[in-house]
Amino acid sequence: MPFKWVVVILTIVQLTHSISSPNAIGSDLTILISNDILGPQSPSADSGVILLSPRSQVSADSACKVLGETLWAPELQTASIQSNLDYLTFEGKYSADQQYWIASNATAIRAIDGKGHISDYTTFSPGLRLPALCTQSAPFSNISVQDDSQRWQVTVHSNNEYITGFRDRLSFRFLGVRYAPQPKRFTYSTPYTGTGGNVSATSYGSQCIQAGSGSDGSEDCLFLNIWTPYLPAHGRGGENLRPVMLWIHGGGFTSGTANDPTFDGANLASRGDVVLVAMNYRLSTLGFLALDDGVTNGNYGLADQINALEWVRTNIKDFGGDPDRITIFGQSAGAASVRAILASPKARGKYKAAIPMSNLGGGGYGTTYSSWLTIDEGMSTAGKQILEATNCSSAASTVDCLRALPASILQTLSTVARYLVMDGTYLTSLGLDLTKAQDSLSDVHLLQGMMRDDGGAISSYIQTANVSQAIASNALLSGFNTSVVTESGLFPVPEGSNATLNVFNVTARVATDSLFRCIEQAAAYAGELNNVFAPNSYFYEFTRSYQTINWSPNAPVCEAPKTPTHPNGDPEQEYFKCHSGELYYVFGNILRMGYPLRDENDLPFEQFILDSWTSFARSYNPNPDKGLLKARGYNYTSLQLEIAGQWAPISKSDIVRFPMRQLQWPSKQAAFRDVDQCAALGWPLDLYVT
Ligand SMILES: *[C@@H]1O[C@H](CO)[C@@H](O)[C@H](O)[C@H]1NC(C)=O
Ligand SMILES: *[C@@H]1O[C@H](CO)[C@@H](O)[C@H](O)[C@H]1NC(C)=O
Ligand SMILES: *[C@@H]1O[C@H](CO)[C@@H](O)[C@H](O)[C@H]1NC(C)=O
Ligand SMILES: *[C@@H]1O[C@H](CO)[C@@H](O)[C@H](O)[C@H]1NC(C)=O
Ligand SMILES: *[C@@H]1O[C@H](CO)[C@@H](O)[C@H](O)[C@H]1NC(C)=O
Ligand SMILES: *[C@@H]1O[C@H](CO)[C@@H](O)[C@H](O)[C@H]1NC(C)=O
Ligand SMILES: *[C@@H]1O[C@H](CO)[C@@H](O)[C@H](O)[C@H]1NC(C)=O
Ligand SMILES: *[C@@H]1O[C@H](CO)[C@@H](O)[C@H](O)[C@H]1NC(C)=O
Ligand SMILES: *[C@@H]1O[C@H](CO)[C@@H](O)[C@H](O)[C@H]1NC(C)=O
Repeated sequence: MPFKWVVVILTIVQLTHSISSPNAIGSDLTILISNDILGPQSPSADSGVILLSPRSQVSADSACKVLGETLWAPELQTASIQSNLDYLTFEGKYSADQQYWIASNATAIRAIDGKGHISDYTTFSPGLRLPALCTQSAPFSNISVQDDSQRWQVTVHSNNEYITGFRDRLSFRFLGVRYAPQPKRFTYSTPYTGTGGNVSATSYGSQCIQAGSGSDGSEDCLFLNIWTPYLPAHGRGGENLRPVMLWIHGGGFTSGTANDPTFDGANLASRGDVVLVAMNYRLSTLGFLALDDGVTNGNYGLADQINALEWVRTNIKDFGGDPDRITIFGQSAGAASVRAILASPKARGKYKAAIPMSNLGGGGYGTTYSSWLTIDEGMSTAGKQILEATNCSSAASTVDCLRALPASILQTLSTVARYLVMDGTYLTSLGLDLTKAQDSLSDVHLLQGMMRDDGGAISSYIQTANVSQAIASNALLSGFNTSVVTESGLFPVPEGSNATLNVFNVTARVATDSLFRCIEQAAAYAGELNNVFAPNSYFYEFTRSYQTINWSPNAPVCEAPKTPTHPNGDPEQEYFKCHSGELYYVFGNILRMGYPLRDENDLPFEQFILDSWTSFARSYNPNPDKGLLKARGYNYTSLQLEIAGQWAPISKSDIVRFPMRQLQWPSKQAAFRDVDQCAALGWPLDLYVT
């Protein structure tokens, strides 16, 4: 039946021509762009090119067409591509003399070298193979629009399936990639392996069901998203593999998703030249219920995170990521997750570095994020109430009784489980041991820190001029010895004209210290003095912030005051630098989210923070490489390094004076803050140092 065969072959040819893949093209695909202002408004927005591996001129021309592009040409009058060439030279991938195919003109076949000189290659030997530069015209995506039409799609073979994502202007995007089958409720998720088929990764997978998620939430939610500037052909990649940053979202272990546009990885991947992965994990009772039945031991959400880490270890090289250079990072409950992963025997050796951002711990509401419960305590804190509320207490199998209920009922009970527990498998202790050096942590590089006023978003603004009453009425500060605050003289009430704001200043300080700062600083102090982590760890405090627009508790106190000269807020005025106020900076997404730059320093600061975080992922040092900055034209970050100097690691010899970097424009080294207050509250700096 020869006729049918012809049809089949044509179909395959059509497919490979319509959806590109590095394997079909036989080339690594690298998106290079001068991502200077982190938004489509940039004058260099059209400076992007796609780099192809060395090949003949004819093959370069046709490969660009498969990508829906053409060979790049100076006549296109795009913004300068010189910084892309300089970066290739800086990386050592090619020398400055390297020639790259570009488009022919009417009279000549042409190549451009690393210095930007264009030469006539009309009389080259026909076998000559050069790397090539295609145009990169895929549109920018943003918070509301993405163009995933077939022209921009790209297929990668990984995990025994063909995964089709797409590219936007800045990076390749693979959204909603499954890392685990839907788990049986209250059991650990298992690794997912494809069945040889084709799957789409052009739109997000379901978020994990949570209170308020409605039909967007599901128990089948164990997906991750990948943003990468680089796709190697045939899983090669070798020394070109990029560092990987694995993001764990926050949300109190009861809410949140990796699909949150705040965490879109396009800018980190593109400007920072890293592979960003963000995963969903089970939340609330479905993620963290522990019962005393000997089987339902809890930590399902934590186990999901570690399962995702293993997926990354196994598969990320197919997406250009280096499995041996994984940095796990997370904020709030995501930082608490990082701390738990540091302690977990199940995660040992599977990552190289960690960035917990604004972890909670200490007292009140913060306690259980860093001091984990026994299963019995989990039972008495949440399990018992959940069984009672569901009438499952006296069922023959309490867990089967809970399995029979709709997920939405479990996630909206007045008590939900959101506690890490010592389950014996994922966590075998009641907290991260910082009291001594341990083999499991001695190679882990650590960058950690907080917002100056993390607690300003966590404590409530009580309308009172009475500090005792404000503390007593603050549910999340319950259990405190109020007289330490009112009688020690360590927490003076400021004398501003607004009496309730003066009191809020004190409760915010108590909340910041007791829910965040004291144990964070104690952890950094012990990490250094007890040699717990790899040499050179870093601590920061953000003193500039951009409060998340959709989450601004106690508004407007966490927001820069609006003034006639700064209608969107003046960050140089005093205001509370609250929880989550660093997220837009770290991900570089202010403009992508459609929000304004409030002053002339917001953008340089955003660039500087993104560059510092990705530098840490690359070299475990947050001080960006000066040569890299020069090659890529990141001149504001270079300027910041010139005026502010280096971010110094915590060092034993200077641990009193200069352990901490205050991240501002410009940044500076500083002493730990509120050391006396922390001691009075019961979490002294030497908490973990004996
Ligand atoms: C084509 O490019 C070559 C090499 O740069 C140049 O010498 C020549 O003048 C160009 N021809 C036209 C028609 O622009
Ligand atoms: C999957 O897609 C590829 C092209 O990327 C095609 O060659 C193959 O036939 C498809 N396989 C299935 C099972 O549909
Ligand atoms: C539990 O039983 C009470 C009393 O019979 C009933 O009102 C309530 O709806 C039940 N709750 C659930 C979750 O079935
Ligand atoms: C402040 O509040 C505390 C506790 O609510 C109360 O005992 C005290 O009398 C109040 N102080 C004043 C001056 O009102
Ligand atoms: C509370 O703090 C005060 C002042 O520091 C102290 O005198 C008192 O003993 C503390 N009370 C308790 C129960 O610890
Ligand atoms: C005090 O400050 C708060 C927070 O900015 C504000 O809501 C309140 O109106 C102010 N009160 C007075 C009396 O100005
Ligand atoms: C809180 O009060 C202190 C003085 O005790 C002051 O230095 C600080 O600026 C105040 N914080 C805010 C956000 O106003
Ligand atoms: C997103 O992009 C579309 C199309 O370019 C544009 O119309 C829209 O204003 C952008 N939205 C934001 C928030 O930037
Ligand atoms: C950085 O480069 C841009 C574009 O070339 C230029 O507009 C800006 O003034 C430079 N900034 C500094 C601090 O050199």
